[in-house]
Amino acid sequence: MKHKRHFECRECGARTAQWQGQCPTCGQWGTIAEISQEAKSASEAAPAGRPASLDQVSIQGREWISTGSAAVDAFLGQGLMQGSVLLMGGAPGVGKSTFLLQLMGSLEQQGCRPVYISGEESLPQLKQRADRLGLQGRGILALSSTRLADVLACLSQDRAPEVIIVDSIQTMTSEECEGGAGSVSQVRTVAAALIEAAKTRGICVILVGHITKDGQIAGPKLLEHMVDSVLAMEGDGNNDFRILRVVKNRYGPTSNILVLKMVHKGLQIVHDPSTFFLRARDASLSGSALVMALEGQRALAVEVQALVTESFGPMPKRTSVGFDSNRLNLLLAIVEKRLQLRLGAMDVYAKIGGGLKMEEPGLDLGLVAAVLSSYYDRPLPEGAVFWGEVDLSGQIRPIAGHDLRRRQAASLGYHPVVCPAGGDRSSQASSPGRTTLPIANIRDMTRLFSP
Ligand code: TYD
Ligand code: MG
Repeated sequence: MKHKRHFECRECGARTAQWQGQCPTCGQWGTIAEISQEAKSASEAAPAGRPASLDQVSIQGREWISTGSAAVDAFLGQGLMQGSVLLMGGAPGVGKSTFLLQLMGSLEQQGCRPVYISGEESLPQLKQRADRLGLQGRGILALSSTRLADVLACLSQDRAPEVIIVDSIQTMTSEECEGGAGSVSQVRTVAAALIEAAKTRGICVILVGHITKDGQIAGPKLLEHMVDSVLAMEGDGNNDFRILRVVKNRYGPTSNILVLKMVHKGLQIVHDPSTFFLRARDASLSGSALVMALEGQRALAVEVQALVTESFGPMPKRTSVGFDSNRLNLLLAIVEKRLQLRLGAMDVYAKIGGGLKMEEPGLDLGLVAAVLSSYYDRPLPEGAVFWGEVDLSGQIRPIAGHDLRRRQAASLGYHPVVCPAGGDRSSQASSPGRTTLPIANIRDMTRLFSP
């Protein structure tokens, strides 16, 4: 057996042929260390795998575990899958630990044996949190450790838990691996060991992952490929709502969302979020438009606001909050050119109400409506609701989820419905008493402001 040597950066995982003081990839000093591996001969490395007929493959140990909440079960598919590994990412303080501790409480009530392993908090801290969440007396099992060996020992007990939560993957270290906690090689080694344990013992493992400044899950992108499902929790301290999204799901639907509200006793599920984000909207003011937006598989009513004022600077200001500023610039250019409005002399500020952040083409028409409403200083018709994508030519394009949006608008009693022409033919006939204004071009929008 030959000994092969190579050098690897403990921070970024980059490999180099020889030792260097500074990593050429991430620029860190003193992070390159020698890794010695026993090179296997070609015949040993060759897989001995023989294909199996899927008809004969057993799926024992691959059943759903109900979380005890119908909403969370549906959000994930049908619950937690035995032997699967979930990764939950989110900014610090967003509520990951809170959500997972509450999930433990409801799993415990189902008769399931979950264990919470925290590398970030001590047992008294966990107890305080559990008490605050009203989980006393549920017999929740917890372990405070940062050693992978402890986690693996917990998994190999006689009465092994069915679900474990590891908070967080960046705090766990393996003794077999060099590098500090949270370094690429540690994260990779710890994740691989836990995935292996989950698969062989049929245990569901939920990993918490930190995210970096630009919103990525810290550590190798590989981590997201290794796990079965990735959940992302979004929100910030300025608002009390949190949105949990399924980013990847090997066992159930993706693009599901769960809207949660942070109260003093933890996170509450908002069962019908359709008008949740409209709190305190005043429809009688100019510059406010209602949009039936699509978030995952849900149609949510959101408010889009615009403020158009005379500009006194050398350059007009354009500011967007909650959506991409390029989108605003693009729409203003279209409005300026196609409707011959002199927006070049105006400052324009636009924002999605309720603290939401969205990337949704359906917002376009609502933004145009809000900008025109503020420009003319005339409120939009009360109850008017918009959706549609605006082309560079000023044409309005039909978008995904048209029927879902139309049904939701009708059930909430909104009208007139201002939406792309040709979205569907039946809309006018099927909603008696409700006006639909199908529009083909943003020029048609000026009808809303004619006396
Ligand atoms: P936490 O779950 O610790 O966040 P993460 O694990 O994602 O870092 O959330 C902590 C925040 O939640 C903290 O700012 C306080 C707030 N919080 C409440 O508002 N109510 C509660 O019942 C709890 C437990 C926390
Ligand atoms: Mg936490």
